[in-house]
Amino acid sequence: MNKIRQIIRKKNKSKIVCLTAYSKNIAEETDKYADIVLVGDSLGSVLYNYSTTRKVSLSEMINHSKSVRLGIKKSLMVVDMPFKTYSTKNLALKNARKIIKETKCDAVKLEGGKKIINQIKFLIKNKIPVMGHLGLLPQTTKGKFKSKGKTSREINQLKNDASLLQKSGVFAIVLECIKENVAKQITKDLKIPTIGIGSSVYCDGQVLVTDDLIGLNKSNIRFVKRYIDVKKYINTGLKRFALEVRSKKYPTKKYSY
Ligand code: KIV
Repeated sequence: MNKIRQIIRKKNKSKIVCLTAYSKNIAEETDKYADIVLVGDSLGSVLYNYSTTRKVSLSEMINHSKSVRLGIKKSLMVVDMPFKTYSTKNLALKNARKIIKETKCDAVKLEGGKKIINQIKFLIKNKIPVMGHLGLLPQTTKGKFKSKGKTSREINQLKNDASLLQKSGVFAIVLECIKENVAKQITKDLKIPTIGIGSSVYCDGQVLVTDDLIGLNKSNIRFVKRYIDVKKYINTGLKRFALEVRSKKYPTKKYSY
């Protein structure tokens, strides 16, 4: 069965695990536990300290994705299309084809609903698998990041967008920072899976930025749970190396030619 169908089939059966990766070594580990590995444009803030994901370029996404591809054996690999790379349907198709050709990923993710529905329909018509993304949209949010689904106007828009995305043929939708009751309702209404981030346990799956959950990136966002502090382990190793170099304990004959 194709990987996308396998993801859709998980709805109402088993929760979907999605993790980000920006390079081969992390991808190898995420691949062991995730159903979907996402090369998110969050790499802009996590790796490059950009103030916004808007600054991430297509070539940055492609280079990181090529590395990630090397680490993935089984998971579905999804790549974020960066800001302004899908402003028109022809541009979206040209760039999505480039991403897929150069990175061999399985699908692309675009942020938005009704406003970009023509681009999404056009990609799907041209056999490009698409993952949707609704709620908090980092690429187009100006100012402070706030949760979504608080007013009836916002709730209706989210529901309409989710339904439009499903009709247009996306295989799953990321719901970012959406109020619990709204995420729950959208998840119930849809036949395709929802992948939540800060949007409650009622979504069909969950995604987190791997660097956040392993403590490689310091993040104080409410939905981030830190499962381990890998920096501690890195520091232990690096400190020992530095000590041994300075005290001439490394390299011994064993490590020399
Ligand atoms: O860019 C990203 O990593 C994302 C996820 C957090 C959903 O879009």
